[in-house]
Amino acid sequence: MAHLCVNIDHIATLRQARRETEPDPVAAAGIVEQAGAEGVTVHLREDRRHIQDRDVDLLRKTVKTKLNLEMAATDEMVAIACRLRPDESTLVPEKREELTTEGGLDVAGHEEKIAAAVKRLKLAGITVSLFIAPDPAQVRAAAGVKADFVELHTGAYAHALQPAEVDRELGLLATAAMQAHSLGLRVNAGHGLTYANVGRVVRIPEVEDLNIGHNIIARAALVGLDRAVREMLAAMKKGTPKEV
Ligand code: PXP
Repeated sequence: MAHLCVNIDHIATLRQARRETEPDPVAAAGIVEQAGAEGVTVHLREDRRHIQDRDVDLLRKTVKTKLNLEMAATDEMVAIACRLRPDESTLVPEKREELTTEGGLDVAGHEEKIAAAVKRLKLAGITVSLFIAPDPAQVRAAAGVKADFVELHTGAYAHALQPAEVDRELGLLATAAMQAHSLGLRVNAGHGLTYANVGRVVRIPEVEDLNIGHNIIARAALVGLDRAVREMLAAMKKGTPKEV
């Protein structure tokens, strides 16, 4: 079954709303791991709107499963990652005017810059993932810049309303996952996934990790983080086809 990596940025967002010390994402990471998640994901944004440098320093020391650091492909962030050495680094389009397509990182349009960031991160021993739309040109470009993983953007699938549209978006994800795999890339997925829609993404055989934040933390605000994570793991398990 695909692994669950919980994005805990929203815990830091709540803390920053009052510039207080609580809730602490470091404590949240411990609860997430105890509940059975296989990884913790945080996005250190250039404007530090939620996760702070102190958080990533401490998380690097405390996370026992897998720490996935989401970041823009900037010199500052690459330097931080190379010092910190998260288990995985996911490059995301943060400076929208520079790097984005609507779906994800525009690797095809910025191959040189992204290839340089990938190279620096890999030399530091960090596994590198690129957050891209399920678009054949972006998958090819991700292989071209020698990323280890792509993280397929599931937002369009998650936001599709009509059944035919949902099927179409799921088909694009499945095709991109196959293409990535055939080019030697490993595959993660995430964005907009919920207890209700995660099952069909889990069934895409190439998908290794799912990065899920908002839906879990929203539920955690009402029922607690431990339960919210366990419920997501149960939803993923339910969505996985039975072994034959
Ligand atoms: N993957 C990436 C690359 C993201 O940037 C985010 C959002 O921070 C997620 C997954 C998780 O998305 P959501 O919060 O909608 O579950």
